[in-house]
Order: sequence, then structure tokens, then C-alpha cells
Amino acid sequence: QKIFAFSIRKDEEPYVKEWANEHPDIDVDYTDKLLTPETAALAKGADGVVVYQQLDYTPDTLQALANEGITKMSLRNVGVDNIDMDKAKELGFEITNVPVYSPNAIAEHAAIQTARILRQTKVMDEKIAKGDLRWAPTIGHEVRDQVIGVVGTGHIGRVYMQIMEGYGAKVIAYDPFENPELKAKGYYVDNLDDLYRQATVISLHVPATKENYHMINADSIAKMRDGVTLVNCSRGALVDTDAVIKALDSGKIFGFVMDTYENEVGIFNANWEGKDFPDARLNDLIHRPNVLVTPHTAFYTTHAVRNMVIKAFDNNIELVKGEKADTPVKVG
Ligand code: NAD
Ligand code: COI
Repeated sequence: QKIFAFSIRKDEEPYVKEWANEHPDIDVDYTDKLLTPETAALAKGADGVVVYQQLDYTPDTLQALANEGITKMSLRNVGVDNIDMDKAKELGFEITNVPVYSPNAIAEHAAIQTARILRQTKVMDEKIAKGDLRWAPTIGHEVRDQVIGVVGTGHIGRVYMQIMEGYGAKVIAYDPFENPELKAKGYYVDNLDDLYRQATVISLHVPATKENYHMINADSIAKMRDGVTLVNCSRGALVDTDAVIKALDSGKIFGFVMDTYENEVGIFNANWEGKDFPDARLNDLIHRPNVLVTPHTAFYTTHAVRNMVIKAFDNNIELVKGEKADTPVKVG
């Protein structure tokens, strides 16, 4: 049996080799190229593919894989919002993801950035680099003085809540599917409007779905407290960026943590040094003192990457062998 992996980065290679060494009976091959209609044929002869990319898995891409007789596809990541599910269903694809590779990686990043924005570290670092070692006016806010509103109490949201409580903050949460343990402890507010009304920091930990598209928009921002801090380490599509920029300009939003951006595909995880930067709005956000942009790196830790690779290969061999997959994705 053969598994072929697409878009393997240098930092993933050791884990691919580790898995291959532990499975000498399986033929493992890989490329650093993304899966596209043009590259799908690289997987010729494979029984399954292991993939990760932010580029869409378009109908053409899925068709090109199916033309090679390959319909068993294992994602190395959580999000499945970039797969054309109708086409995948039509072609009989079986798909797995890695829903829990390290919630701590993302939650920890969100927590670090929350603390950094509240303490104005970006401003202070830039002042210090210029030789300005004065304190004022760069005064910080303590995390323990915040009401942290967590939207989505799944794997990542729950870890973020624990970290924020560790700082001594009051934590409230909203999720239409309430976790019984969190409910018993009284974390939940009744609806998002309640959360917007109370929270001084709002952190999003929900998937990008049709229903959640631009859940943070001019209307929802208007319901928030003046000087609120917004943290998005989830998906760019959750946030109407123009509405946030207006609120940053007016001071309604004090600070914005942005690990994911609605136009990030093709821009994040690329080197723009010495080239024309392709997105003026993003460029503006990057250079604001009260905005912390990271290029979708919340997940990017050694712990997470190893789990993503090993688990995706484990999943794919289950599919290839016709066994029940541990973490199947609903196709269609
Ligand atoms: P999860 O499925 O464990 O939890 C998501 C929770 O969101 C669920 O409990 C669900 O009921 C809730 N939810 C859905 N819509 C909601 C809404 N409108 N309001 C409130 N709650 C809602 O997922 P997770 O593992 O915690 O991951 C959350 C998201 O983080 C993923 O969907 C992905 O988009 C994002 N993510 C980002 C990175 C990164 O590197 N930045 C990495 C992994 C995942
Ligand atoms: C996910 O796992 O869904 C992510 O957002 C991380 C991805 C960029 C590897």
C-alpha cells in the first residue's frame, strides 16, 4: 500500500520519516507542492493522500485525484472549510482531519497575544528600539482586571479559558452547545449579545461556517463595550475587517489580535520582503500600534506539527485498509 503526502514542509519532513520508519510495510512518498489539478498526478499509484493547505480543494482538484483512483484523503489540520464537499460527496471521497492536534498551541498563542495587547508591548518594544525608554504614556492593563468573553467552548476555547483564569481574569462564555462541566460552573451567558455587553476582551474560537460568516460586524461591534479588545485566532471569515478598522479608528476597539485574516490565502506564509505587498488593508493593520498580526501561526509549534503529521498518516492508513477512521469528516 502507498500513501502520498502533498505540501510537506521542511519542519514536517522528520515526522513523515518517523512515521515511514515505523511502517516499513507502507510505501510513503511526498512532495512540497500543494495539491492542485496540475499536481494531483504526482500521487499516481497511491491508495490515499495526506494533505494540508489553505488553498481550496476545488471540484477540479478533487476530480484530478479521483482520476488517479484516489478518494481517501487525510487532512493534517482541523479546518475543513476549504473543501468542496458537494464534489467530494459526488466522487465518493472519504476524508479525515486532525481535530485535536494541540489545542494548547492555539489557545496559548491567543493568550500570549491577549496579554501583549493589553500591556501594549508592541508600542513599548518599538519605543525601546528607538532609544525612548520613558514609561508614559504606554501604561498597561492587567489581565486579571478583564472580563474575558470566550465565543466557542470547544477544544481550543476551553484551554484559553483555563489560561485566562490562571491570570485571575473573570471568564464568561457563549456556545450554543454548552459543555456540561462548564455549565455547572456557571460560565455561560444566555446569548452572544450578553457576552458582547459584558466582555472587555472577546476571543473567537468557533469554526468558519455559513452561519458564522462576519459574526463580528458593525452591528455586533456596536453592542460591545467601549475599548473592547478583540482576539481572532480562529478564521478570518468570522470578522468583517472593514468594520473592525472603523472601530479601531474610532477607539471603540482598543486592540485587535489577528492571527487569521479573511484574505490571507496566498499572502500568509509567503515572503514579501523586497516585493510589492499585495494587500494595502493588511499592510495598514500590520503597522498599527494596537493591532497584533501573526500569519496564521497560532498552531505552529513542534508539538502540534508532529501530532498533525503522525495522526494524519495514522488516519490515512485506516482509510486505505478499509478500517473505521478515528476522526472522519462528514462529507456532503
Ligand atoms: P471545536 O469544534 O472543538 O469547538 C468549536 C466550538 O464552537 C463548538 O463547541 C461549537 O459549538 C462552537 N460554535 C460554533 N458556532 C458558534 C457560534 N456562532 N457561537 C458560539 N459558539 C459556536 O473546535 P476547536 O478545536 O476549538 O477549534 C476552533 C476553531 O479554531 C477551528 O474551527 C478553526 O477555525 C480554528 N483554528 C485555528 C488555528 C490557528 O492556527 N489559528 C488552528 C486550529 C484551529
Ligand atoms: C487548522 O488546523 O485548521 C488551522 O487553522 C491551522 C492550519 C493553518 C494548519
